[in-house]
Amino acid sequence: MLVLGIESSCDETGIALYDTERGLLAHALHSQIEMHSEYGGVVPELASRDHIRRALPLIQKVLNDAKLELSDINGIAYTQGPGLSGALLVGTSIAESLAFTLNVPTIGVHHLEGHLLAPLLEENPPQFPFVALLVSGGHTQLMKVTGIGEYVLLGDTLDDAAGEAFDKTAKLLGLDYPGGPAVSKLANQGKKGRFKLPRPMLNSGDLNFSFSGLKTAVLTLANQNELDLQTKADIAYEFQEAATEILTTKCMFALRETGLDNLIVSGGVGANKRLREQLNFATKRKLCHVHYPRLEFCTDNGAMIAYAGAMRLKALEGTQPSHSFTVRPRWDLAELQKPQ
Ligand code: KG4
Ligand code: ZN
Repeated sequence: MLVLGIESSCDETGIALYDTERGLLAHALHSQIEMHSEYGGVVPELASRDHIRRALPLIQKVLNDAKLELSDINGIAYTQGPGLSGALLVGTSIAESLAFTLNVPTIGVHHLEGHLLAPLLEENPPQFPFVALLVSGGHTQLMKVTGIGEYVLLGDTLDDAAGEAFDKTAKLLGLDYPGGPAVSKLANQGKKGRFKLPRPMLNSGDLNFSFSGLKTAVLTLANQNELDLQTKADIAYEFQEAATEILTTKCMFALRETGLDNLIVSGGVGANKRLREQLNFATKRKLCHVHYPRLEFCTDNGAMIAYAGAMRLKALEGTQPSHSFTVRPRWDLAELQKPQ
């Protein structure tokens, strides 16, 4: 089954072709980061208009790259939510109208389910069950995953998401949007030990997170010090150490608590090099395994939507295809069910 995936929930138009027999055949992405950067964040109306401009040429591109035609497509997966409603509507409209003309089924995919399953696109994916850390701009969640649509929440952030903390730290240090990669780059020049930052809830006895105290501690440091380049780098270094230590420690607690030995990490912060170093080290010591998406699939992309959609469409094969034209800008992952 050849599935076209369309991601348009925020500031990236991602398109991909996934075949349930042959795997990922092609993917293409247009990032709007440059367009939004002068505003310091995503401008929803500009995002929607740009998705309209980019989606069809990108669909043509993936078809050309895979040497396939529109008529080869057997199903269309699109991000139905959560996200910006206008941006979601663009992907939904394109998916539903294409599906109507091609007479193929569609599936509305939960954006976070896409992220969550992205590591399974790589070679030697783990078997279910495993622990998943979903760590993005809006989420910091630990889950026990026993199958597609079977997600048990083990821990969540009580306030800011980890990516949000990276972004806010970047802003305090005068770095560009998006903040995560900028903080990480600057941290490479930072010196260890000059500043001390807290690790909130590290030993809270549960699997929840809190990042707002860490952000406030960064704000205090930024206010107390002359922010020359070296000082900024030293703060970035300490912030990254604190954030990645918290994430790593809680992942290890989650593996211990569930008795599982496979961890998958997904979402934008999963691209962080220091986080990967710490997780690789910690899991190896405990004889566990950690799986990541390739770097480009940590952030938003069409491949993860094509994959998640393909898994669900495959499970629905033989049933009457249903079409809907609703977007779900707010959609809790806990509402998802296994395909039936
Ligand atoms: O998953 P994602 O693309 O978007 C959603 O939030 O859905 O994640 C974006 C987040 C941003 O907060 C960004 O600053 C962060 O991921 N991020 C990083 C890195 N790359 C992206 N944070 C730390 N280190 C990175 N290398
Ligand atoms: Zn995302």
